[in-house]
Amino acid sequence: MTKELSFDAWDEQQNPDRAQETDFDAVMSRRYFLKSASLLGASAFIMSAGLSSQKAMAASKAGFEFKPIAAATADTITLPDGFTSQVVVRWGDPLTSDAPEFNHATRGSAASQAVVAGDNNDGMDMFVVDGRTLLVINNEYTNRSVTFGNSESKLPETDDDGEKGKMAHGLTIVELAETDGQWTIVKDSPFNRRVTPDTAFEVAGPVRGSDLIKTSADPKGVKILGTFNNCGNGKTPWGTYLACEENFNGYFSSHEGENFKQTPEQKRYGIAKGGKDWGYKWAQTDERFDVSKESNEAHRHGWVVEVDPSGKRNPVKLTALGRFKHENAEVVVAKDGRVVVYLGDDERGEFLYRFVSRDRYKPGGDNTSLLHEGELFVARFHDDGRGDWVTLALANMPADETLVFARIAASKVGATTMDRPEWVAANPHKAEAYVALTNNKYRGERENQPLNMANPRAKNPYGHIIRWTPDGGNHATDSFSWDTYVMAGNPMVHSDLMAGSSNITEANMFNSPDGLKFDSAGNLWIQTDGNYSNAKGFLGMGNNQMLMGDPVTGAIHRFLVGPNESEITGLTWSPDRKTMFVGVQHPGEDGNSHWPEGGQAVPRSAVIAIKRADGGLIG
Ligand code: FEO
Ligand code: CA
Ligand code: CA
Repeated sequence: MTKELSFDAWDEQQNPDRAQETDFDAVMSRRYFLKSASLLGASAFIMSAGLSSQKAMAASKAGFEFKPIAAATADTITLPDGFTSQVVVRWGDPLTSDAPEFNHATRGSAASQAVVAGDNNDGMDMFVVDGRTLLVINNEYTNRSVTFGNSESKLPETDDDGEKGKMAHGLTIVELAETDGQWTIVKDSPFNRRVTPDTAFEVAGPVRGSDLIKTSADPKGVKILGTFNNCGNGKTPWGTYLACEENFNGYFSSHEGENFKQTPEQKRYGIAKGGKDWGYKWAQTDERFDVSKESNEAHRHGWVVEVDPSGKRNPVKLTALGRFKHENAEVVVAKDGRVVVYLGDDERGEFLYRFVSRDRYKPGGDNTSLLHEGELFVARFHDDGRGDWVTLALANMPADETLVFARIAASKVGATTMDRPEWVAANPHKAEAYVALTNNKYRGERENQPLNMANPRAKNPYGHIIRWTPDGGNHATDSFSWDTYVMAGNPMVHSDLMAGSSNITEANMFNSPDGLKFDSAGNLWIQTDGNYSNAKGFLGMGNNQMLMGDPVTGAIHRFLVGPNESEITGLTWSPDRKTMFVGVQHPGEDGNSHWPEGGQAVPRSAVIAIKRADGGLIG
């Protein structure tokens, strides 16, 4: 099967010269490069100093102990001895007893897809509502070669195909039950439902009613249909779920084709270059995805949405958190009671953001509008290990434009361009937060993406994780200290910066950190979405994986390896912390997996449940 162009590669092919206005750092120069490279040894690998326990083979932390596993290339889930896994929710699993089981020959229809679990599960979290255990799952996107793999073209051909793809997106909310250690879907639960690209959302925050989001279907700019490309997620202390709209740009096209001319704003957000979408063909059945017919529709996506798992309150688009390619939304109640949300914008040379609520969190009170008003900031990382959050208000743009075109405002205030900010995770035991910077082939290559201490490696093929501690231990203060937690790399084939930091060895190599989450014991879980060729610079790394990092010692141990051509993304726990739920996304994206059913089955993204054989706590 021919390799399908990744969204990321397509997006760049579409927009090779994506506008990037400024960077606070000086324009890349040879002198700067040398300075940065020599500084690296001195301070960027700050974790190296405390790595005494790295050689220890048994990872140990309160509630967790395992013998790290080797890299693997098997079409299965590989775990340490003493752990078991089962598949819980797969793409196409029925949510009601009258919904059809997954059909491997047709791979479903628009009608069937609307009443079963969505595809490509990503971020997720678990909630207890009225004593029921609900799992809320993002269904990020579809792989055309899998979704439409039964047709000759392996593309959406009919209108029903286009609609089927659409219905595979959004969120799946499903009740689960555990019997004799096995988790199953509670079919017909009143809580089971899908949130799709057609579900109605309220608009909250400063962009509500703005001219920028008014359309023929919504002349007041207060109601938006749908959410899609939901990547990472967040969970609020008041029991709601945040889903983050990432590569929303790839769904918009123009019937004008090559004659379509992008505005500067559309160019910055990668909307409909040459009139093309990524191949979803939604405009074929829904004109709002044709930017020449409904130019504001694209402004209505690229937000964080808040969903009440119980379904009692309408879902909401949170415009105060800005519009960009959202990765996840890590929520922290700051020392002063305001709510902070950390937000990454996953594109090469884009930024890391922080939202601070205007009002304070009221434990047990009504917090439902807490994310509607506040201030949005972007990060500047200085080479001396200090950093600050700069308010987008300094861009001096109207409030609605500042949020709809947050990238442009962030460039104006001099944010630091980053190596693709993915998930942010905050340590529950200490005022510090970590961000995965997955990779960036343009670092040090493009004028607007010079080397700096926070993004210190040219072309950065392996990615890294940095972390910051807010001054005064208060996430709402505007200054912080930062250091590097790990530079991923390959010490098997490199002996320079590409080998990675000293907490990387041949035993725990990985590339492209993406998902990040802390468990209640304070372990940092790292999930990867990287190069699984197991060859050349990636030799010895095997399939995508999940590792456990110790935030104190820097030790990192491999816990799980995924099936072929999958990404590991999404992590949550059962209320009793005896089950860990992990997401396996797009197995066989290039045609080389039959996981989870094996044989000649169609590969299906799925959530798995992992337990300790001794029944103990697992995070
Ligand atoms: Fe959907 Fe940035 O990963
Ligand atoms: Ca991701
Ligand atoms: Ca990803």
